[in-house]
Amino acid sequence: MDAFEVRGGPSLGGRVAVSGAKNSALKLLAAALLAEGVTSVHNTPAIVDIAAMTDVLSHLGVAVRRDGETVRCDVPAEVGADTPAHLVRQLRASIVVLGPLLARCGKARVAQPGGCNLGNRGIDMHLSGLAKMGARITLEDEAVVAEAPGGRLRGADFELGYASVGATENLLMAAVTACGTTRIGNAAREPEIVDLAAMLNRMGARIHGVGTEEVVVEGVDPASLRPVTHRVVGDRIEAGTYAVAAALTGGRVAVDGVDPEHLRLVLDKLADAGPAVQRHSNGFEVTGGELRPVDVVTLPYPGFPTDLQAAFLVLLSQAPGVSMVTENVFDGRFRIVEQLGRMGADVSVEGHHAIVRGPSPLRGAPVEATDLRAGAALVLAGLVASDVTVVSGARHIDRGYADFAGRLRALGADVRRVAEDVPATAVSHA
Ligand code: EPU
Repeated sequence: MDAFEVRGGPSLGGRVAVSGAKNSALKLLAAALLAEGVTSVHNTPAIVDIAAMTDVLSHLGVAVRRDGETVRCDVPAEVGADTPAHLVRQLRASIVVLGPLLARCGKARVAQPGGCNLGNRGIDMHLSGLAKMGARITLEDEAVVAEAPGGRLRGADFELGYASVGATENLLMAAVTACGTTRIGNAAREPEIVDLAAMLNRMGARIHGVGTEEVVVEGVDPASLRPVTHRVVGDRIEAGTYAVAAALTGGRVAVDGVDPEHLRLVLDKLADAGPAVQRHSNGFEVTGGELRPVDVVTLPYPGFPTDLQAAFLVLLSQAPGVSMVTENVFDGRFRIVEQLGRMGADVSVEGHHAIVRGPSPLRGAPVEATDLRAGAALVLAGLVASDVTVVSGARHIDRGYADFAGRLRALGADVRRVAEDVPATAVSHA
């Protein structure tokens, strides 16, 4: 198992181009299942989670080929309907094949994803929405088994209890070929869902209102869907991670390949915290400045993303004064606090609030990536720590950041991967 070794000190400078969004590409690949033929997804990030999703598709009978940043999926006339536990364990997000498989095959068997390092990860809303669309669902020991009577779901009208990203995506894909119209109220509005709906509509789906809290899907004939070529939207979380790296080190970094509108609140918060932020059509530039404390509250989009909460904890540990960070999305997302404490950060957790008192001089220490975003944030902490920080569990970071060490090094950071000879601890996946 590898680790990231970071020597603190240098201010970052230069340009970095981000990849396509992990959390969009994963769903676009699942959506390819809906149409026979070759769907090509451009700007796909070179990360471990995408490899795991292509394993899922291969298992279902899809011939997948990666060529640079393009993944081509040749979907056969008959696709398998059973996704086994060992693949779902590698990639919790593979639950999003449930909707497209039901739409395509009229039945699906997907291993139960279970909990993970982020805490409870329910799928009750995915299942209750599918049930409202007529699916008969049984929970076996290890799997969700779903079947559409007569092979086809029917349109339904429902509200989600919470604007869940995964439930909105699964139900959207299931509704594409249902008989009649589906209305999803309190739908999630993340840019990655807008990206998914754009691809689905080009495949022949009729989806309206995506990006608002009410999504309407007019079901179409399954045979009318066709494969397409689609380019993945830029990764706002990767972009936000480099933005924080620039701010933290007092550097100046231009980030390309992302729509700054998708980071509106994040860039506003960053500017409130001191750095100067300049937006352009395909990205933004951050110039470090004296840091100030700010409060951050994570919420579904367009709120502040939970996936950048850990990076902001690190940033605010360097701002003189008291900041409060409130986590509303995942109950396990403050596990990083213990690791940051080892480096000298002064953060205390009360329920779903973290109180950050800064500035605390950080010192290098052996720390552990408890999940993908925590891992990246610990590498950022290492950039401003004295001595050497070793972040173990590099594979967590590899799940979501293409060539993280290389991209940071190109900006002047002293970061490299090293082999670690401690035994791998059990991990689960977001
Ligand atoms: N939830 C339920 N029941 C459900 C669905 C969700 O209780 O049926 C709860 C979850 O337990 C969680 C909350 O609702 O506490 C949010 O879950 P949501 O469904 O919105 O998130 P997700 O689809 O599981 C995606 C991203 C996450 C990102 C969240 C929030 C993917 C593959 N994952 O997860 O990304 O944090 O949306 O924006 O798209 C990451 O990239 O590091 C990551 C964790």
